[in-house]
Amino acid sequence: MSASGKAMWTSILFFLACFLPNALSEETKEHPSIGIVGGGIGGTSTAYFLRQLFGKEAKIDIFEKRQVGGRLTTIKIGDNQIEAGGTLIHPKNMYMVNFTKLLGLEQLDVGGGSFGIFDGSSMRISSSQYSVVTMAKLFWRYGMDIYNIDSWINEKLLSKFMRIYDIQSAGHAYTTVPDLIGAMDPSFISYMKNSIKFVMKTSGFGDTFIDEMVMGALRTNYGQNTDIPGFVGAVSIAGVQPGLWAVKGGNKQVPEKLVSEAQVQVIQGTVVSVQLLQYQGKNYRVGFFDAEKKEQFKDYDIVIVATPLHDEVSEIDFEDFPSSIENFPQQFHKVTATFVEGVPDPKYFGVDNADDLPNSILTCNDSILVNSQDKKADVFGNPTDVYKFFSNTPPSEDDVKQMFTSKKDIRMATFMAYPEYSTVGEDLPPFVLHDQLYYVNGIELAASAMEMSSIAGKNVALLAYNHWHGNLEKIDEPYLDPALEKDKTEL
Ligand SMILES: Cc1cc2nc3c(=O)[nH]c(=O)nc-3n(C[C@H](O)[C@H](O)[C@H](O)COP(=O)(O)OP(=O)(O)OC[C@H]3O[C@@H](n4cnc5c(N)ncnc54)[C@H](O)[C@@H]3O)c2cc1C
Ligand SMILES: *[C@@H]1O[C@H](CO)[C@@H](O)[C@H](O)[C@H]1NC(C)=O
Ligand SMILES: *[C@@H]1O[C@H](CO)[C@@H](O)[C@H](O)[C@H]1NC(C)=O
Repeated sequence: MSASGKAMWTSILFFLACFLPNALSEETKEHPSIGIVGGGIGGTSTAYFLRQLFGKEAKIDIFEKRQVGGRLTTIKIGDNQIEAGGTLIHPKNMYMVNFTKLLGLEQLDVGGGSFGIFDGSSMRISSSQYSVVTMAKLFWRYGMDIYNIDSWINEKLLSKFMRIYDIQSAGHAYTTVPDLIGAMDPSFISYMKNSIKFVMKTSGFGDTFIDEMVMGALRTNYGQNTDIPGFVGAVSIAGVQPGLWAVKGGNKQVPEKLVSEAQVQVIQGTVVSVQLLQYQGKNYRVGFFDAEKKEQFKDYDIVIVATPLHDEVSEIDFEDFPSSIENFPQQFHKVTATFVEGVPDPKYFGVDNADDLPNSILTCNDSILVNSQDKKADVFGNPTDVYKFFSNTPPSEDDVKQMFTSKKDIRMATFMAYPEYSTVGEDLPPFVLHDQLYYVNGIELAASAMEMSSIAGKNVALLAYNHWHGNLEKIDEPYLDPALEKDKTEL
């Protein structure tokens, strides 16, 4: 990030320090009105956690310019509904697990199946129908790395990552992304500063494993390579563990149902401005174009931005602030998902027989079109003849002709998908843009995933609640695990 960008965030934080806590009129103190911009999993989980914290009386609105769910969306091809955006959920993603249960939804197993890693001319490795043979092949190629990866993920990542649930259930919140990630474990700070290649090499993993398996996972999940930071890299590698699932019927049902569970009003409209009000009463005026494209205004005590602040995603003007609040300074990575109902040509992936073409194909070569390809089940788990492949640029008609010998139907969706992680510097935006103005999506610069948005949503809800009630001892303070503290005093 530029020096002026750094100065901007620093001055915002300085400004905050001067103005907290704000004078509040007595009658509104218990029940704030809250406006949330964005109805994805980030905005709707924030709304749910805010409702839990502030209770029934708080007024909570969500502004959504397209449809609730955001990057969680399905696509119809032929007679099939298929996940088009965020798809896979890790079994230890506790907020997503709990939302699914709470909302009466079911988990659908989506892992497993045959796989291969393509290098641009042939398969470096592919699974066998016999798992013993697959394990032997993997061991032959990657040695002990193939066993060590599981314990590395569990011990170095997941067990530490999961501390966030204790921290947040104790009500602790953090004003910056590095402080939140660092609260899970200090080692994660260095993971954010070094490449995943470096982090894994220093943990003893070999080049072949990193260049093929890790590269394949990163290209599948983020369309990027092993130079991206270790933290987002690690989140991505956790996606090779068993037990991955999606919500039966579509992941977008979680945000949709959170809206009614949290009893929030969804306002269909595009927010274009957030104005700092100069008088006592409400703090902010949100300007938006409603469904009839008419400009309207609504005033709130608290405003939460739950969409990336980026010119090509949501251009919101922050008006009358003492120092400027600007859009997301980092680049965003565009990804195209192409869905083809048809018959693939195995030769495109260097395979002779159609029967030998793996269901899931990872790729480990930066200079080829396809990031990954998958034979898809529909959102209910029924098999289909639909193949989905990701690419960083949209495929040409000729590309698709080379990949498929016949096709009945084709659909494409291009996403402003996630940050371009190579452009993310060390200075990440804070969760607090101004007194009682919060920003959920800064978390994506650490790692973009459904669970990350939910964790950021809970953090922002706790920040809003703790600021509102002056619980400053729960903000930016280290969390001391009561169990561990007890052990210490007994010693
Ligand atoms: C192709 C793809 C595959 C992915 N795969 C996975 C995966 O397998 N597992 C995983 O965990 N994650 C995955 N992710 C990441 C995951 O989908 C995102 O991290 C998550 O959905 C982000 O949620 P969000 O609510 O923060 O943002 P969004 O879902 O983008 O929500 C923001 C919402 O705000 C609305 N909005 C924007 N500007 C305005 C405005 N000015 N006024 C009103 N409304 C506005 C938008 O319409 C949108 O609905 C994937 C993402 C993509 C794109
Ligand atoms: C990557 O793919 C290109 C194009 O197919 C090929 O020329 C190149 O040799 C491949 N690189 C590796 C390392 O396999
Ligand atoms: C998930 O739900 C279970 C059962 O209700 C609860 O004990 C647990 O604390 C919840 N986890 C989180 C992270 O909220």
